[in-house]
Order: sequence, then C-alpha cells, then structure tokens
Amino acid sequence: MKPTQTVAVIGSSWGDEGKGKLVDFLSKTADIVVRFQGGNNAGHTVVINNKKHSFHLLPSGVLQNKTVVISNGVVIDPEVLFTELDHIQSEGYKPELIVSSTAHIIFPFHNYIDELEEKHKDYHAAGTTKRGIGPSYSDKAARYGIRVFDLVHPEFFKAKWDNLIDIKKKMIIALGGNWCYNAEEIFNQYVEFGRKLKPYMRDTAYFLNESLDDGKLILFEGAQGALLGLDHGMYPFGTSSTTWAGGIPAGAGISPKRIDKIIGIIKAYTSRVGGGPLPTELKDETGNYIREHGHEYGTTTGRPRRVGWIDLVNLKYTCMLNRYDALAISLLDVLGGLLKIKLCVKYIRNGQELDKWPIHSEIINECTPKYIEMPGWKNLHEEEWSEIAVQGFISLPEEMRNYIKFIEDYLGVPIAFISIGPNRKDSIVRYPIW
Ligand code: IMP
Repeated sequence: MKPTQTVAVIGSSWGDEGKGKLVDFLSKTADIVVRFQGGNNAGHTVVINNKKHSFHLLPSGVLQNKTVVISNGVVIDPEVLFTELDHIQSEGYKPELIVSSTAHIIFPFHNYIDELEEKHKDYHAAGTTKRGIGPSYSDKAARYGIRVFDLVHPEFFKAKWDNLIDIKKKMIIALGGNWCYNAEEIFNQYVEFGRKLKPYMRDTAYFLNESLDDGKLILFEGAQGALLGLDHGMYPFGTSSTTWAGGIPAGAGISPKRIDKIIGIIKAYTSRVGGGPLPTELKDETGNYIREHGHEYGTTTGRPRRVGWIDLVNLKYTCMLNRYDALAISLLDVLGGLLKIKLCVKYIRNGQELDKWPIHSEIINECTPKYIEMPGWKNLHEEEWSEIAVQGFISLPEEMRNYIKFIEDYLGVPIAFISIGPNRKDSIVRYPIW
C-alpha cells in the first residue's frame, strides 16, 4: 500500500473544534503545513506547557518549526501576517514561511465594507468576524482583486489600484458609509508590505507538487468548519471559502488524487458563533455550564459562542462530503459533571423524522432535534484528565467510552484521536494517522 504522504484536517461543523491542537500534533511528522482557505477570521489555539498561542493566519505548524505555506486559496491581511510572524520569532520559533504569489490581499476598506454589508443584510447577517474576508473574496470573484504578486511589483499594483479604489469608494458610499481613506497612503503602506513579502513569495502549486514528488509529507490545515462553507454549508450563514476537503485542490493547486487521508475533527458538543439556526442550541443552565467550562468565547472576536448538544445529523452530512478516514473528538472533559448527555440523532419537521441535514436554513429553522440520552461522566481536574490520557483509552470513564462508541457507530467512522484537555499531552491516539 502507498504510504500516507498527505493528511488533511477538516473542522466538521461550525469551526472551533480544536483543530489547532490536532494540527500541532500531526505536524510533528509533517515536513510542510499548508493553510489553503480563509484568512485571519480563523482562530487556532495551541497550549504548550500551559502557555497559550493563538493564531489567526499563520498555520499552527509554526510551533513545530516546520515549513509553513499560505497557499493561493487564502486571503491575506499583511498587517496580521507580520504581527504574527514577529510574535513567533520573538518566542524563538523559526519556521520557514512560504506565501503564494496568487493569494489575494485584504485592505482596510474590506473590513469596513464587511461591517457595512452586515448591517445591510439585517436578518441574513452571518455575524462575520469583520476581518474583511467576504469582501476580499468578492473582489477575487469579480476579478479586480489584488494579489501578493501585485504588491511585490508596484507597477502592476498601481495599474489595478485606481480602478479598485474607484469601485470601493462608490460601494462604500452606496452602502451608506463614508470614504475616510487616503488611497495614496494605503498604496504606499502596501508597497512596503510587498517589499517585506518578497522573500516569502513563491508559486506554491509548483512548490507543493514538487515537494510531494520529492517524498515530503504535507499536512493541510483547514480553517472554520464544513458547515460554514460557501457551497455546502448553511448559506448565507457561513464564511466565503470552501471549508471542506474539496477546498484543498483549488486552494493549494494539488490534484484531489494527491490527498491521502482526511481527518474530521468533531467537538463533544456543538458550538458556533454568528447567526443562523442551530437546532441543538442550549439557552439554559446546561448551555451556560458548557460555555463556561469549555471557555467558549471566540479566539478571534472574543464573542460568547452559542453551544448545544452534539448534532449527529449534520455531522453525518459532513462525514459524507469529506469521506473521512478517521475522526478526532475534542473537549470531552468539558461535559464532565453533567448527569445526562443528549445526542441529536434525527430532526423532526412537521411531525416527520428526517435523517438528512436539510441544507437550507429556512427548513432547518423549522426542525426540532430528536435526542437520545446517555449517562454523563464525572467532572475531573485538568491534572486528573492528564493522568488518564497517559494511561490510554481503557482508563477513560466507561460512560465516556460508550459515548465515543455510539458516535463512531452512528457516523460509521473510527475515532482515532481523543482530546480530554487543553495541553498537548492531554490526548489519546487510538490509531496512527500518518
Ligand atoms: P467571516 O468568515 O468573517 O466572513 O464570518 C462568517 C461566519 O463564519 C460568521 O458566522 C463567523 O462567526 C464564522 N467564522 C469565521 N471564521 C470562523 C472560525 O474560525 N471559527 C468559527 N466561526 C468562524
């Protein structure tokens, strides 16, 4: 059998599933870690020796001093990129960074347009991170976006800039905003970013394909989650990129045939930020308990996350899309202390049971979850969970093992990686992934 050369980690629901920790773990083996979609709307947290590192744009593999790639499918806010790079370097990490020449750029007016558009959308607002992600991708799709290559070549940048500014000015005014930018100042600032980006810029599709030809191991780090994706997520309550594994070929320039393994990461419960229906949402004391216990506040915006019971109906859907080889489950420790734990196994709409995710938010709004109930497990201290992690799967509380087994059986995918605490060491690996 061909050895595993590429592994992808995909968030299975609404993001914030704990990808950072899994990516950090898997990137130990990888030679190269790639981000292929999204931008600094992402928030990946990795805790090493009780020190928390949060990233929004850099791949989490930076903490393993690997080669990290920001490929063409990502939108880049250069200010954020250099702030994160400075932080990492000041902490003594020395990853090799490669940035695609065809990745699109986020400018300050994109953030403002993001805000104005959200106001206009009213009920349909996605509750975006206001990081300019959607507006930058919109420019890309409209074919007047600016790419890394342009910043590095001011003469090409200038040829596109005046047109872009003209359009953005009109757009901002039409949306009821004020044009409060000095276009020349921004241009010069971004030419300076281009000068700083130049040493990192590469044609990453060539780089990645040639690296694979040379036998290198590559990890693809998804951002957000499959249900936030543009095509197969809960439109319009999601983000502007392709968040499931289908985003890798387009976003990184490699053939789908080169993706060897796809790992889905699921949370022991559900959480999301932003608008849109969330059938298993808990607006009661149990919800507050999970939110506080799980520190469910956004890494990027600090917003309290909406939380609920695990939703196996939508997870089954994203398992189908991604055809995962294995799953990783995170934050099981957070449910500790609850007497009963519920799992949504079907939706009910107009008195009828549904097994399939209804896709459209209007229909999901009319659905209520059908639950089964399982006994919970006790609440332990962080150090106690760490000790259990060392002893392995068999030492987990029986109720937790039954919970894991039920999810595995329902989804038909083995759970290879179990996380019961925030630190690197609080994990159990049941099956090798590479
Ligand atoms: P945007 O990506 O900033 O346009 O936001 C669109 C939607 O995706 C909003 O509901 C955000 O809260 C959500 N979102 C974006 N990035 C993340 C993430 O990394 N984790 C969880 N939700 C996210």
